[in-house]
Amino acid sequence: MCRMDMILGTPKGVMSMVGGDGRREEDRFQPLDYTAALELPRHVTAIAWQEHIPFAMALVEMVHPRVLVELGVHTGDSYLAFCQAVERIGGSCRCFGVDTWRGDEHAGFYGDEVLSTLRGHHDSAFGKFSRLVQATFDEAATHFEDGSIDLLHIDGLHTYEAVQHDWETWRPKLSRRSVALFHDVNVRERDFGVWRLWAELEAQRPSFMFPHGHGLGVLAFGDEPPSALQPLLKATGEERARIAALYFALGRGITLEAQARELRKVAEQIGEYDALALKQKARLEEYDAFCRGVRAHMEEYDALCRGLQSDLALERQAAATLRGLLADARSRAVSAEAAVADMASSRAVRAVRAVHGVGERLKRIAKTTVKGND
Ligand SMILES: C[S@@+](CC[C@H](N)C(=O)[O-])C[C@H]1O[C@@H](n2cnc3c(N)ncnc32)[C@H](O)[C@@H]1O
Repeated sequence: MCRMDMILGTPKGVMSMVGGDGRREEDRFQPLDYTAALELPRHVTAIAWQEHIPFAMALVEMVHPRVLVELGVHTGDSYLAFCQAVERIGGSCRCFGVDTWRGDEHAGFYGDEVLSTLRGHHDSAFGKFSRLVQATFDEAATHFEDGSIDLLHIDGLHTYEAVQHDWETWRPKLSRRSVALFHDVNVRERDFGVWRLWAELEAQRPSFMFPHGHGLGVLAFGDEPPSALQPLLKATGEERARIAALYFALGRGITLEAQARELRKVAEQIGEYDALALKQKARLEEYDAFCRGVRAHMEEYDALCRGLQSDLALERQAAATLRGLLADARSRAVSAEAAVADMASSRAVRAVRAVHGVGERLKRIAKTTVKGND
């Protein structure tokens, strides 16, 4: 058998052979019977669940559910893939995606925009058979009859206590042919505990586990699982590993496609930034030229200011000299005034004395004249 045959199994119509495990080739899982796995999902946002999309779409083809419920929808990567597969197989399946669209400790908390964006992808494309139910899982459970759900995907909060509670609450709602899916069964970090619940469940019921993409557990819960699922559930050892490898490779393709899309977006943004950077560079060059002009003007003004400052210094010097001369002249004037005053006062004294002498002499003359007359 070539490597591809080993992965894909024997095509229909080819003579069967009994393998080492005693199973006939046609009883083995035939992935090519479920070509929904090859369909590209129309909506992918995050890098976590998308690696399970090919198997999820094939599973819908295997199970042909009448009622499909997902607990934990968030941006809708898994739920919209289920819806796409349901649309592809046709029929009368009704789908319900339940979430508060508020987030939780593991997914992170978020706002109304997540649900409104999701509605944009969901309502017109799948609204005819699917509803987005904004409620807690416990509230929503009361609206489903016991034994009514054929395909249940549990992907809410991932602590052991939370996932066990969700499982206990929703288990009675499962039908006899039901399949339950558990995401994150292979996460051993933080307080994730789905792996613990999974270990308990896979010991009780037929199951299959994909280790990639954080781990997806497929549990055939009902006691009448869809016959198409039997080869998958019965696969053992090497065959299981090959099936897991095949869906990992298909899922990886979706991851790579999503990453390529992200890179294309980043490249577009880089192109836009480049164009913007070129524009800014041209504007910077304009500013540079403008600044050089301003700098030249400033240098001219500087030279002018320096000239004015030295003129001012000279004028201050001249003013200081003039003030000195003025002070000199004032003090000389004061001295001259004092001298004049001096001179004036000494002449007056002499004049008074002279007048007084004349008076005395006149008195004596008068006296002499009087005596003579006597
Ligand atoms: C891991 S995300 C779901 C991811 C989604 N299945 C996907 O891969 O595309 C978990 C979601 O479960 C929701 N959730 C957690 N606990 C819940 C609860 N008890 N009731 C309703 N929603 C809950 C959170 O709001 C969050 O959006």
